[in-house]
Amino acid sequence: MQLSERSRYAVNPIEEEDKVAEMLESKGKKIIKLNRGDPPKYFPTPKYIIKAYKTALDNGKTGYTAADGIKELKDAIAKRYRRSYNLSLSKDDIIVTQGLSEALMFINSALINESDSAILFKPYYPMYVPWLKINGGNPIYENYEEGNNWNINPEKVERSLKEARRRGKTKRIKYMLITNPNNPTGTVLNKSVLKDLVDIANEYSIPLISDEIYDEIVFNKARFTSISEVAKGTPYVVLNGASKIYDSTGFRIGFMLIPEDDKLSQAFKEKMYNYAAVRLSVNSPAQYAVAEAMNNVTEHRRAIGQMVKAIEQRANHATRLLNENKYLSTVKPNGAFYIMPRVDFKSLKIKNDREFTDLLLKKEGIQVTRGSGFGADSHFRIVALPPKEILDYAINRINRFCKAYHKR
Ligand SMILES: Cc1ncc(COP(=O)(O)O)c(C=O)c1O
Repeated sequence: MQLSERSRYAVNPIEEEDKVAEMLESKGKKIIKLNRGDPPKYFPTPKYIIKAYKTALDNGKTGYTAADGIKELKDAIAKRYRRSYNLSLSKDDIIVTQGLSEALMFINSALINESDSAILFKPYYPMYVPWLKINGGNPIYENYEEGNNWNINPEKVERSLKEARRRGKTKRIKYMLITNPNNPTGTVLNKSVLKDLVDIANEYSIPLISDEIYDEIVFNKARFTSISEVAKGTPYVVLNGASKIYDSTGFRIGFMLIPEDDKLSQAFKEKMYNYAAVRLSVNSPAQYAVAEAMNNVTEHRRAIGQMVKAIEQRANHATRLLNENKYLSTVKPNGAFYIMPRVDFKSLKIKNDREFTDLLLKKEGIQVTRGSGFGADSHFRIVALPPKEILDYAINRINRFCKAYHKR
């Protein structure tokens, strides 16, 4: 048997040190895992959602469902978007997927031919790259700029595209993908930046995809705008899911929205339905549970309110502590639940981000993710979900580690 060339792109930097962590744990070392963004680990999935899951099982909802999702869930999604973003969706505009992750597989497989490309913004969510490359595509990188509080500067994006057009390179750019709020930087993009990106996407006929999986996890008085509020009349796709906002990563429920009806959007909706049909169905009881999760607005508001308040306190507290470390500098996040400190490797006896994360795990038992996994090799990423005591412990260890490795 010979593996395909492209299979080498299937890598997940967030989990790459799990085996080392497991080995250390088996030898009795205490390991704090700040690598995976898994809310149910610290915030139990709300009881009303668990109850709905159990009810679905009791009602025998254990078979295949409609390939693109059950009517109850599509109705709940449509109501949520009407309520929150004043967006009208018909049932064909919605495709339910096995986590947002599956939507990435579908989209790349349906759009990318050999040597096509897509615009991603560094630092990016790592799983965007494997599906693009596995399908033969190449990323073109633009930036969330650290010096600009990790914001996007649309003028720079426009300048790069102008140059690409001059060289005849824009035709093979199949999409531009933004993450808002962003993982790993916590950036919440403001409305005017989004409007500018929509204008650029229109000007260069590049469909815009917005991953909005953290759309309700926004704090420090930041205001979230969905691309659907500014992208009217342009082909665009919204990606979202139940993992983070409905605190149910293990249910594996995601969805994509294709709200427009231009020719490209129409063709894309049909193709996405075909992809869904090829893999048959999404987890049945989980779809019923997420429909209830969305429809029970009172319970949801209570649950998400408590969770976001706790995340705000934890992320702000952790950022403050990290900024006391003179070898690190950290921009405060306003959304999601990650922190992305920059490391002054020159002042430490450490080569790079890989060595930093590896040594931090082995010496101090703190597992974080190397920045190069997100396309930012001067950084590392911490998950800010755990309670204060755990964050205090972990950051004290990080600070002790940096002091120990400081070049004398
Ligand atoms: C930006 C972003 N998109 C997608 C996902 C994966 O979502 P799902 O659990 O729905 O596959 C994550 C998970 O961390 C994420 O951070």
